[in-house]
Amino acid sequence: MRMSVIGCGYLGAVHAAAMASLGHDVIGIDVDEGRVAALAAGSAPFFEPRLEELLRAGIESGRLRFGTRPGDAAGARVHFLAVGTPQLPGGHAADLRFVEAAVDALRPHLRPGDVLAGKSTVPVGTAARLAARVADTGAALVWNPEFLREGWAVHDTLTPDRIVVGAAAGARGERAVDVLREVYRSAVDAGIPFLVTDLATAELVKGAANAFLATKISFINAMAEVADAADADITLLAEALGHDTRIGHRYLGSGIGFGGGCLPKDIRAFAARAEELGRGAAVGFLHEVDAINLRRREHAVRLVVEALDGLVFGRRIAVLGAAFKPFSDDVRDSPALEVAVRLRGLGADVVVTDPAALDNARALHPQLGYEPSRDEALRDADAVVVVTEWDEYRRELSPAHAASLVRGRVVVDGRNCLDAAAWRAAGWTYCGMGRR
Ligand code: UDX
Repeated sequence: MRMSVIGCGYLGAVHAAAMASLGHDVIGIDVDEGRVAALAAGSAPFFEPRLEELLRAGIESGRLRFGTRPGDAAGARVHFLAVGTPQLPGGHAADLRFVEAAVDALRPHLRPGDVLAGKSTVPVGTAARLAARVADTGAALVWNPEFLREGWAVHDTLTPDRIVVGAAAGARGERAVDVLREVYRSAVDAGIPFLVTDLATAELVKGAANAFLATKISFINAMAEVADAADADITLLAEALGHDTRIGHRYLGSGIGFGGGCLPKDIRAFAARAEELGRGAAVGFLHEVDAINLRRREHAVRLVVEALDGLVFGRRIAVLGAAFKPFSDDVRDSPALEVAVRLRGLGADVVVTDPAALDNARALHPQLGYEPSRDEALRDADAVVVVTEWDEYRRELSPAHAASLVRGRVVVDGRNCLDAAAWRAAGWTYCGMGRR
């Protein structure tokens, strides 16, 4: 099927490449000429496992192209809307400027029978408004939220847990849903649930899913605060909780909390929208979820300060990790980087290392020290802070080897990802987050 993907960021670039890999004929469109040139040359503009492989295969097959003009979308049967919805400057609501601009630019190229499929995360009610805006073109608008995780984006796009398509009632909506079913034929045939809803429900599913995941993480981090005060161990508590099949182990990883380009801004936008709808009380807990999450960053810094007996100024601190999570080079709202920035603010000589995110981190915070080599970052450090659980730190760094490089054997495990007993046995003062 011929399709266009408007917006080629983390979501759109992966979606375009994945759709081409399914045999569709895809044009990806973005206003950023540099990004389009990179994608057209088969090079991923950000770190995402398997993306380049898919890009190259798609381009070679002739089924995947990229362009900058909205008119390039003309002739496609389905137009996926995958532009960003960042947090409004100075507010909590989502900034819909890019979504609206994309729809307005596409509008003159829509034909009767075309399907406009929104994938961006938007406040509930947006889809109905956009549907009205394109109604006179004869195109139908559906909402098809995307649940991909960075680092697993290709996997999550090709084999999602479920596909949700929201459509307006009536023949035009039904036809549009059938078109989407055809787009995702291979996944549907493989038994992946395909759920058809109204527009508002589809928009809410995405917000609610992110709110739930963020709440689960902040729940375990709140328990970590209590565990700290009670001399208990949060990792054992989480392990025991997760065995309850009603709870499960996933998203019970305690530490410095969630960050990235989605969860933090999405829960704020979700709450802001619920408040607009007069249901602020129903989402009051999300403010607490946010507050618990932000406290974790402060707490990690406090642990470092305490471990250094309050003497931070001028001390060398190796910060292992900058990305908001492993398998990503994304530093948007990264808890890891915020810990580094705060330590620098206290006068520490901070050296940050990360296998993928150093360039992005440096562009955002040029005041920090950066070192591509993990071992060089560790050399002569007075303290070590692990803030992104890359395998390079979690599995591949032996405490004895690290001890041979540093000046002070103090490690703060901001992700509770190290083997505390092994580090202590190698002579380290080990501090976890909620595992005194
Ligand atoms: C998230 C959602 O998972 C995805 O469905 C949605 O489409 C976009 O937002 P992503 O931002 O890529 O995806 O990252 P995710 O893997 O969910 O992690 C988010 C943050 O939570 C990371 O900072 C991660 O380190 C943190 N996290 C995750 C925890 O602190 N503990 C956990 O147990 C899991």
